[in-house]
Amino acid sequence: MARNSKITDPAQDPNVSTLSDAPQEIPNELPHHTALVNRHAILEKSPTLLLIASLLVVSIGGIVEIAPLFWLENTIEKVEGVRPYSPLELTGRDIYVREGCYLCHSQMIRPMRDEVERYGHYSLAAESMYDHPFQWGSKRTGPDVARVGGRYSDAWHVDHLSDPQSVVPESIMPKYAFLADTRIDADHVQDLLKTHRFVGVPYTDEQIEQAASDFKVQADPDADYDAMLARYPGAAVSNFDGAPELTEMDALIAYLQVLGTMVDFSTFTPDASR
Ligand code: HEC
Repeated sequence: MARNSKITDPAQDPNVSTLSDAPQEIPNELPHHTALVNRHAILEKSPTLLLIASLLVVSIGGIVEIAPLFWLENTIEKVEGVRPYSPLELTGRDIYVREGCYLCHSQMIRPMRDEVERYGHYSLAAESMYDHPFQWGSKRTGPDVARVGGRYSDAWHVDHLSDPQSVVPESIMPKYAFLADTRIDADHVQDLLKTHRFVGVPYTDEQIEQAASDFKVQADPDADYDAMLARYPGAAVSNFDGAPELTEMDALIAYLQVLGTMVDFSTFTPDASR
């Protein structure tokens, strides 16, 4: 207070508000302006005006966020390697959805350090562009499975799905052993691909024609699978469950093994940084 020691009358002190004379105003140590900033009192005292002004502000915010989307050609950047699911993978995906795996597992790695360190590169929009419906999930009772493809052997998946506690003793995941007893055939797989084409997945006529044979060939390493691999690059060819019959277990593992493997992240550069 040494600086102001000469001033004895508070009214003369530039640091002291003189508003205390006006009882209806709140005393303020800062220099006081009655201009624009104080006019919000008008808004605050009238619910109707406040409502109109809030709507105005929210609509401006909304337009700024939404309007550019009408002029963008595509909101999903094209990424090399992302392809439609093979017939067997797509069938496995349906089993994944039917069994409600998404209730415990998400398929979206968020761009946060802890997630990227645990699960791998954060998920790209393009990686779920052929997912109908998408499987991002909203709950992680179990780990994210967006990049589980190739992390475990087929045999591990058979053991784990049949009896999760046999490989992870503390696991609370239910047993899905019955999948290995449920045989599947290619009767409906062509229709399944057609349905996905109907909602926008770019399956070619050739892929639809060959759907039934591609379906069987992927689970038979002794078959001639080159043409199937040309249609679905990187698809895992294997007798997934180790048994001769084609079962739901085969299809589900074929699906799990492709998750997160389509994009080669050693060469991937996001569009924005090009
Ligand atoms: C009740 C919740 C629950 C459900 C439903 C569930 N899981 Fe899990 N899952 C877990 C938990 C918890 C773990 C972690 C422990 C373990 O590995 O078993 C896990 C682990 C996994 C893993 C290993 C992931 C990794 O990175 O180690 C895979 C793969 C998996 N689950 C697939 C599935 C599939 C496929 C289904 C549906 C058929 C399914 N889960 C249904 C809870 C669940």
